[in-house]
Amino acid sequence: MAASFGAAQVLVASNRGPVSYEVREDGSLDAKRGGGGLVSGLSAIGPDAGALWVCSALGDGDREAVRRGVGEDGVRMLDVPADVHADAYNGIANSVLWFVHHMLYQTPLEPVFDAEFRLQWASYEKYNRAFAEALAEEAAEGAVAIVQDYHLTLVPGMLRELRPDLRIGHFSHTPWAPVDYFRLLPDDIAEQVLRGMLGADRLGFLTRRWADAFTACCDALVGGVGDTRIGVHGLGADADFLRERSHRADVDERMAALREEIGTAPEGGARRTIVRVDRTELSKNIVRGLLAYRELLAGRPEWRERVVHVAFAYPSRQDLAVYRDYTAEVQRVAESINEEFGTAGWTPVVLHVKDDFARSLAAYRLADVALVNPVRDGMNLVAKEVPVVSDEGCVLVLSREAGAYEELGEDSVVVNPYDVSGTAEALHEALSVGAGERAERSKRLAAAGTALPPGQWFLEQLRALRD
Ligand code: G6P
Repeated sequence: MAASFGAAQVLVASNRGPVSYEVREDGSLDAKRGGGGLVSGLSAIGPDAGALWVCSALGDGDREAVRRGVGEDGVRMLDVPADVHADAYNGIANSVLWFVHHMLYQTPLEPVFDAEFRLQWASYEKYNRAFAEALAEEAAEGAVAIVQDYHLTLVPGMLRELRPDLRIGHFSHTPWAPVDYFRLLPDDIAEQVLRGMLGADRLGFLTRRWADAFTACCDALVGGVGDTRIGVHGLGADADFLRERSHRADVDERMAALREEIGTAPEGGARRTIVRVDRTELSKNIVRGLLAYRELLAGRPEWRERVVHVAFAYPSRQDLAVYRDYTAEVQRVAESINEEFGTAGWTPVVLHVKDDFARSLAAYRLADVALVNPVRDGMNLVAKEVPVVSDEGCVLVLSREAGAYEELGEDSVVVNPYDVSGTAEALHEALSVGAGERAERSKRLAAAGTALPPGQWFLEQLRALRD
């Protein structure tokens, strides 16, 4: 793995890698390349740079690929034992650290940090150590390693001990919890997480708010951040990619099908659309979004038959019961709204739960209003993408708890995500914005949302680490 940024080799570490494998019926392996900010960010340093991506085998197909020695250039998949990975990923990362940073606990009964938790924590340590050791083994003298997210908070500290010569960065794609909430964690665990992160030379966050929350935790619990530098890099949408991709034939086909589902208003012309597209994470607040839509239809009957809520809620982390239950609740509430208000020619909520990227882009193009109301979110790229793609420009209804609020708040209709009545009112306001103002606002949102495209976002971090 020769290499380069300047002269230094670049390594990236994340739980989910850029490729995944499935075993076909005939026993052969099918490789699928993933997308996302990190994939396009890393491509900015060029395919010849010899960068290495260290990631975890996630399913049986991935494990089989590791065993057969199949792999893509520039990717090293770690075959962490399945039970260790499940404890670390489902048990700790998604059930504890995700809950802490997004403030999701129903505290009368949870969290419970007991002996079972301690066993899972030991797996989380093991899993982090596997990454640190792989990076230490692969890195050339003086290489740059950038570690991603809450799955790998202990890696910077472990790697620093193994390889003091490396330049180590860590980037958080989630929010960071405020001090009082972070202190739900057992004291020794909270301290271990902070000290693990502080093993890095530099820590990156999506917004100033999350960076400040991290600093406040360090001030309160470990006497400050020491020599570690803290930076903010607000990942933006990839305008070039989105504009090109959203005008291909498959997206046009999906638009025609969606238009059918949406239908026409009583006085003719297409119905207005309120669009949302999420991975069904507990923080996305899809249920309160539906409740707000119900309140809009109940309180402002003039919108009945004239608007459709197009909601795409793609399942994520379905190994965990609470995520499965949440998806079921989304479906239940959507159905109940359709039963209550639907008519022969009008389905008030068009809900899809099967992931289809082309259809997501089709919905973006059709969006009159985009609803992004998470209870808390590191950034939320959908808020940045819809204004870029929407054909006629859209009005963004945006939660003040989304990271994107820092950059987009001024041109959005801003909501408190818990205030269902306030959100219903915001939807009414957004639907009522005239065409001219809507196009203007949407243009400003698109400009702000694409200010730091993935390639630049990644290069900025590399430069900051090098200097
Ligand atoms: C969200 C978060 C990222 C995180 C990712 C993991 O997109 O914003 O911070 O890395 O989820 O998702 P996964 O499907 O791998 O659990």
